Amino acid sequence: MSAELPSAPVSSSAVVIAVDGPVAAGKGTLARRLAALYGYAYLDTGALYRAVGAKVLREGGDPGNPVAAAAAAAGLTDADLKAPELRSEPVGLAASKVAAIPAVRAALLDYQRRYAATPPGGQPGAVLDGRDIGTVVCPEAAVKLFITARDEVRATRRHKELIDKGENPTYDQVLADLRRRDAQDQARETAPLKPAGDAHLLDTSDLDIEAAVQAAQDIVAAVLQP
Ligand code: DC
Repeated sequence: MSAELPSAPVSSSAVVIAVDGPVAAGKGTLARRLAALYGYAYLDTGALYRAVGAKVLREGGDPGNPVAAAAAAAGLTDADLKAPELRSEPVGLAASKVAAIPAVRAALLDYQRRYAATPPGGQPGAVLDGRDIGTVVCPEAAVKLFITARDEVRATRRHKELIDKGENPTYDQVLADLRRRDAQDQARETAPLKPAGDAHLLDTSDLDIEAAVQAAQDIVAAVLQP
């Protein structure tokens, strides 16, 4: 089945920073920090897919079922986006499954593009983090970052996050889940996880948060004020 995605990106004067990358590479932290720094709006697009996955699971459905997943995406509400279980591992895996279904991606695309084109609160720009922001959602983004880190580093970070939240998966489970999710996200036919041709790669394996933010900021500055 090939991708059927609606039309062209919405055009506007808002500055868009696209932050893509695999699971737990540090995208969310970086994107939030950049948004705060520049006074831009921030959209965690993974939360949209997580909300769809969580909704299907809550209704007892199979996240891989295109009919159930498309119906959940079409009927997504603000309350779904605030579901308490959104950040859990099972919901992450369900999100990755629903994200492979073209009808789900199509249902979420317009919202993401409008957010980027007209950021809430009249902010002059938006930072979106996800998997396909630079390739599909906002191919005209002013700056595209693709954040990576070694699998073991990402698993260690994610493991700590889950332990801090009171969950107790083993490190090996977290590493296996992360690899499974990355493989699914990369292999899907519609909007797979991959860097845009004009994305700037940033490997955060050996950087702490402050150094990673500084590196991202340097890239943004070099692109926006060459
Ligand atoms: O960033 P995250 O881990 O919260 O994302 C959850 C899943 O949603 C991820 O495994 C793939 C999917 N996703 C996507 O396909 N496209 C996006 N722009 C964001 C997330």
